[in-house]
Amino acid sequence: MINSRFLKACRQEPVDATPIWFMRQAGRYMPEYRALREQYSLLDICRTPDLATEVTLQPIRRLEVDAAILFSDLLLPLEPMGLPFDFIKGEGPQIERPIESPADIDRLRTFEPRTALAHVLEAIGLIQQELAGRVPLIGFVGAPFTLASYAIEGGHSNNFARTKSLMYGHPEAWHRLCARLASMAADYLTAQIDAGVDAVQVFDSWVGALGAADYREFVMPHTQHIFQAIGDRVPTLHFGTGTSAILAELREAGGDVIGVDWRVPLDEAWQRVGHDRAVQGNLDPTLLLGPPQRMFSRTDDILARVAGRAGHVFNLGHGILPSTPVEHVQMLAQYVHSASSRQTP
Ligand code: CP3
Repeated sequence: MINSRFLKACRQEPVDATPIWFMRQAGRYMPEYRALREQYSLLDICRTPDLATEVTLQPIRRLEVDAAILFSDLLLPLEPMGLPFDFIKGEGPQIERPIESPADIDRLRTFEPRTALAHVLEAIGLIQQELAGRVPLIGFVGAPFTLASYAIEGGHSNNFARTKSLMYGHPEAWHRLCARLASMAADYLTAQIDAGVDAVQVFDSWVGALGAADYREFVMPHTQHIFQAIGDRVPTLHFGTGTSAILAELREAGGDVIGVDWRVPLDEAWQRVGHDRAVQGNLDPTLLLGPPQRMFSRTDDILARVAGRAGHVFNLGHGILPSTPVEHVQMLAQYVHSASSRQTP
């Protein structure tokens, strides 16, 4: 087992410097990723263990990050559930036949991740051989609300009108859909842990579209099921954006580490989460577009709000944008390590 500062911070143990990792650690801001994408589609890379391994390792060679995130995509499990999709250039994901009615939900299939997503599990083994303990590897899955929103909207949405119509109009069908997604997520994460990931993150990227009462009624029991099913085999992280109003509910749903975005000051967020849990965040990813001085001063502000408390993982509030200069990502990682090691008593 790796004894890293990232895993220690997840468990709220003291560390020598603040651990750091980013979502889209690999991605379009990196020339070596763009070069590979000229030859292969995103789905080709996800489905080919050697390519997924290479892309997972690209940022580890370049950036001072304390964890690697598995290169895959949130939507991969939709296909074996009976919802094929593709990524359309410039538009993002597109589900071929989105869920429109309760009958569509009853037609969904269950699948065995060890066969249907065997390529992901194989990639995990290869990545761990290559990493050889340098940094831990984070696996992940989509949370029921965010996955349901793609399955129902067919792609990205600004107001989640179809998703919420189904949720309010057919609550029983909604709960059947989320229960299926939650049991899939628990099985898939268990398979990833068995394959060797060191931590897992549950992505509920769009759950900030709900207020606390709806979160509690329509989402919390399902997300809770995932965290309960995994137990404490590895540290768990629970990520969302726009969640300032529901941080206490996210904590109740589960996760050793609760993700916080830039819309709420980190100290206020931590208060709402409770100091007996770790937090991850919370720089606005657009600050990486420049100038660096503003990115550094905002980083200082975040570290000041942490105030030396154990259990902070430095991260962005959402993923790195494609137009981000790679040098800024490198500078930020170095800055966090040196600034936080100076602050450590
Ligand atoms: O972070 C990493 O480096 C690990 C790999 C990763 C990807 N997707 C690869 C990817 C992770 C963790 C994800 C999660 C994911 N996928 C989420 C949750 C996180 C979030 O962004 O809130 C979501 C919602 C998806 C679905 C998805 N995949 C969307 C909406 C898009 C289009 C985004 C865009 O800007 O066009 C993708 C494409 C995708 N998945 C890219 C990457 C690196 C974009 C790069 C490419 O097209 O080559």
